[in-house]
Amino acid sequence: MPNISYVDGVYQNYENSKININDRGYHFGDSVYEVILFNEGIFYDFEGHINRLFGSLNAINIKFHLSKISLKIIISNLIKINRISFGSVYIQVSRGIAERNHSYKGMNIKPLLSIIVNKKLNNINNKLNGVKAITLDDNRWSRPDIKTTQLLPNVLAKTEANKKGAFEGIFIDSDGYVTEGSSSNIWIINYNNEIITRAIDGQILSGITRKTVAQFAKLNGLIVKEEKFKKEELYKSKEVFLTSASSFVTPIIKVDDIEINDGKIGQMSIDLRNLYFSELHNYQ
Ligand code: PDD
Repeated sequence: MPNISYVDGVYQNYENSKININDRGYHFGDSVYEVILFNEGIFYDFEGHINRLFGSLNAINIKFHLSKISLKIIISNLIKINRISFGSVYIQVSRGIAERNHSYKGMNIKPLLSIIVNKKLNNINNKLNGVKAITLDDNRWSRPDIKTTQLLPNVLAKTEANKKGAFEGIFIDSDGYVTEGSSSNIWIINYNNEIITRAIDGQILSGITRKTVAQFAKLNGLIVKEEKFKKEELYKSKEVFLTSASSFVTPIIKVDDIEINDGKIGQMSIDLRNLYFSELHNYQ
């Protein structure tokens, strides 16, 4: 299977794809990224992800040279060359290459675009498994709303979760409220069947899957509330689930030592997951 990536204008085998040692993404995490899923020629939420990428670039003042249309052409080419029908595309833009210096003031450097495409197992129709999660203190910087590659707290949280046999680490802020997962947004469903997720308040990433799921749920007459909830509410919820581009809607059946819904996947989580797939395909 071809393993071709795109680095700074060149399509190349992984082995030959090299990034300069002085890339600021490597030195400082001075770069932003997106992950987009695709399936049989359909991108999941392409516009949302690309708009957020440009928003992130803007937020950290990277002057990117490519248009959204050019970017889409490059990505589509890469998928075709790799002959992948279901997978994910990882897009990263760093500020560029320069001798190491914290400040970029006055640096005349060109942003560096790199893209990787990965094949994903198409198990959408397989029996769905619920996952476990653990909670941890949110020790990230104060701008988690920008999708930068500076992800060390997220890396440590996910690893801690995995070491404890869990799939996701859920961050809890200093007031005891859930912010989000290490690589996902977190949702609860209460016993009034209200679907609740934290509002876009600067303390979480504005998830594209989150937005789409909320929109589809509302269109189907479900009640969606965007408000904070505490760790204890998470434990007492009827259902808990997470959303992300790569995990879609995934039910959480255990948080720390507490089983949710007696450790079984809840029906509303299943319905929302199915809704997400069916509506996404309808809306193309
Ligand atoms: N992560 N919150 C965080 C911290 C994330 O890293 C992600 C996604 C999300 C969900 O956002 P979206 O629905 O737009 O994917 C929320 C991606 C998948 C990643 O880092 O691989």
